[in-house]
Amino acid sequence: MAGGFVSQTPGVRNYNYKLTPKVFVTCFIGAFGGLIFGYDLGISGGVTSMEPFLEEFFPDVYKKMKNAHENEYCRFDSELLTLFTSSLYVAALISSLFASTITRVFGRKWSMFLGGFTFFIGSAFNGFAQNIAMLLIGRILLGFGVGFANQSVPVYLSEMAPPNLRGAFNNGFQVAIIFGIVVATIINYFTAQMKGNIGWRISLGLACVPAVMIMIGALILPDTPNSLIERGYTEEAKQMLQSIRGTNEVDEEFQDLIDASEESKQVKHPWKNILLPRYRPQLIMTCFIPFFQQLTGINVITFYAPVLFQTLGFGSKASLLSAMVTGIIELLCTFVSVFTVDRFGRRVLFLQGGIQMLISQIAIGAMIGVKFGVAGTGNIGKSDANAIVALICIYVAGFAWSWGPLGWLVPSEISPLEIRSAAQAINVSVNMFFTFLVAQLFLTMLCHMKFGLFFFFAFFVVIMTVFIYLMLPETKNVPIEEMNRVWKAHWFWGKFIPDEAVNMGAAEMQQKSV
Ligand code: BGC
Repeated sequence: MAGGFVSQTPGVRNYNYKLTPKVFVTCFIGAFGGLIFGYDLGISGGVTSMEPFLEEFFPDVYKKMKNAHENEYCRFDSELLTLFTSSLYVAALISSLFASTITRVFGRKWSMFLGGFTFFIGSAFNGFAQNIAMLLIGRILLGFGVGFANQSVPVYLSEMAPPNLRGAFNNGFQVAIIFGIVVATIINYFTAQMKGNIGWRISLGLACVPAVMIMIGALILPDTPNSLIERGYTEEAKQMLQSIRGTNEVDEEFQDLIDASEESKQVKHPWKNILLPRYRPQLIMTCFIPFFQQLTGINVITFYAPVLFQTLGFGSKASLLSAMVTGIIELLCTFVSVFTVDRFGRRVLFLQGGIQMLISQIAIGAMIGVKFGVAGTGNIGKSDANAIVALICIYVAGFAWSWGPLGWLVPSEISPLEIRSAAQAINVSVNMFFTFLVAQLFLTMLCHMKFGLFFFFAFFVVIMTVFIYLMLPETKNVPIEEMNRVWKAHWFWGKFIPDEAVNMGAAEMQQKSV
């Protein structure tokens, strides 16, 4: 892209850079990592509502589903079926804990490659599955792939991005996730119409396509300047920085990268450091933001939209079509965040999105409650079912420009370098743990809590919205080194931040303490 940009924000370093085609292309390819996560998120809901798949692996669920007199809320309740969906997230949680070492020692691209490779093998296991064991092994391998990708790709994007557009580039990861979800639901829509076992095999097997894309992408991608410096390739790092910034005048940014690398080498125990009182705001935020993101209930829609729509009385084809529509709406609405997050700020999006989700969840719960009642044996007419789909779309839109992208962006931008790796690992693993829990418990919860399930998530949306209102200061346009100023000025967090931490960045603090 033409034109040079110089930062105008007070206190931000005036790095000189152009938005080069190279940085776009590398970040575009880098974002493929989000695709594999998204494809997986989107494919399992559709597959678990395909009759031949259920008949083959989950005959009990299939029988229940066929039984028209069964309680609507419990049609799909099966521990094994949810284990199929959620096993992936336990694997991703575990792999994300050690992926950070590979990312650091061998570079970001090799973590991405490994992620693509294990994902590829997993897709083969799933596509050719003959029994439940093969299905679960496949899911676990896919999970390892997702853990590696989610650990390395956001870091890769942030390091490659021009500093003042880091927020928008970071949101690109979420755009890729949702794109993967949408492609998966479109594929499900067509494969669900195929006779016999071929449909679900194609759906699960096609996961190999994004896997190959990320593998090839990782091989051709350059490594980030930060990673090159970290591994001792200082001269190559400078050349890389010059080529992605489109200028030879990168001395200031380059020096900052060198300083940051020196600093991080001096911090021997990031896990111990993050427990110090002065990092309490970051510790609490990196635990609570991913927790709350999952407690919005979004993955009930992501995983089980087709199942949910069938529960509402839609036919299998109409259910998949509705899931496709909600996915496309989520994709479009994520761009709202990309274009506004640096202008309106994080808090406005969090609060607005929270209120929108709250209202729509209460309306969905109330409508389902009135129509199905507590026994779950009532009927939902066509127009009411359509109204519920519309409410689900409003809910999804609210998530798409708030907790979706910000759930990844905010934890990654609030931590100073000396604790960033530990904070990122906490963020990914808390996210995966609660993704697992929601995936594992949703069908049982729907069966027992019935329409109250929507009120359950609405309750958490109230808590998280109040939490953001009271506890999260605005971080837009604040450089990470200046973040302590924001925490210090906060009515609650201020007391945790030592006075001397405010007037100096991490680098100066480090020098002072040496
Ligand atoms: C969340 C996922 C979710 C996805 C799509 C991501 O930010 O972490 O759990 O499935 O958005 O909604």
